[in-house]
Amino acid sequence: MKFFGYSLDPTRLPRHVAFIMDGNGRWARQRFLPRNEGHKKGYEVLKTIIEFNENLKIPYISAYAFSTENWQRPPEEVEFLMTMAGRVIDEYVDSMREKNIRFCYTGTFDGLSPELIRKFQHAIESTRKGKYVFNIVFNYGGKREIVDAAKKLVVAIQNNQFSLENLSENSFEQFLYSPDIPPVDLLIRTSGEQRISNFLLWQSAYAELYFSRKLWPDFRPKDFCAALFDYQKRKRRFGKIDPKE
Ligand code: FPP
Repeated sequence: MKFFGYSLDPTRLPRHVAFIMDGNGRWARQRFLPRNEGHKKGYEVLKTIIEFNENLKIPYISAYAFSTENWQRPPEEVEFLMTMAGRVIDEYVDSMREKNIRFCYTGTFDGLSPELIRKFQHAIESTRKGKYVFNIVFNYGGKREIVDAAKKLVVAIQNNQFSLENLSENSFEQFLYSPDIPPVDLLIRTSGEQRISNFLLWQSAYAELYFSRKLWPDFRPKDFCAALFDYQKRKRRFGKIDPKE
């Protein structure tokens, strides 16, 4: 398949692509607009990328929309991101269901308003039969997820629901927030920053990293294809040696 001049091998597309959508604030500042205008535009871009995936059919797309650290932003910005999340769900849930998208949530509900929690739960429930996963990573921190998993493990041991002898890297995953979501194959971060920022730490252990200089609101399906093209040129060895070399 070919998009925007990039030839992509449909049999070697990543199964899970995760986005760190960085640069909304800078995009707005460059235009002398309030930061929230950058977030609004960022949402439009996210929608475009998810819709473009109808061509690619990548089964899992994750997007970092709010981190546990983001609570430290000015209260108006936090409020705006929360309200926008609710609005986005109201606006987009029916269309997700029609487009065969399953909405998943990775993060905690701690500190969210009961109304927003209800909206997330409704979106999860009403799209549960969808085939292509859109996983919103919200109110999430990677270290916190691992600590929460450790706590759940201890409780399961105390309640005789899990035995310590059975603990392995694989079995530990059942205690993570979204155990049915596979590891990240390709992690894309925009805006030129080259950091993981506490995002899906466990799930990205062997992810290929791709950094785009574009600010998220300027990111387009063409840039997504450029990242996939780059990904397909790489050799993933997972710590082993390539037997052909
Ligand atoms: C980082 O850019 C972006 C965020 C903290 C929010 C990302 C949210 C969206 C793209 C919209 C989709 C959201 C929902 C709720 C569905 P930044 O603000 O850190 O940008 P900067 O580094 O230029 O300041």
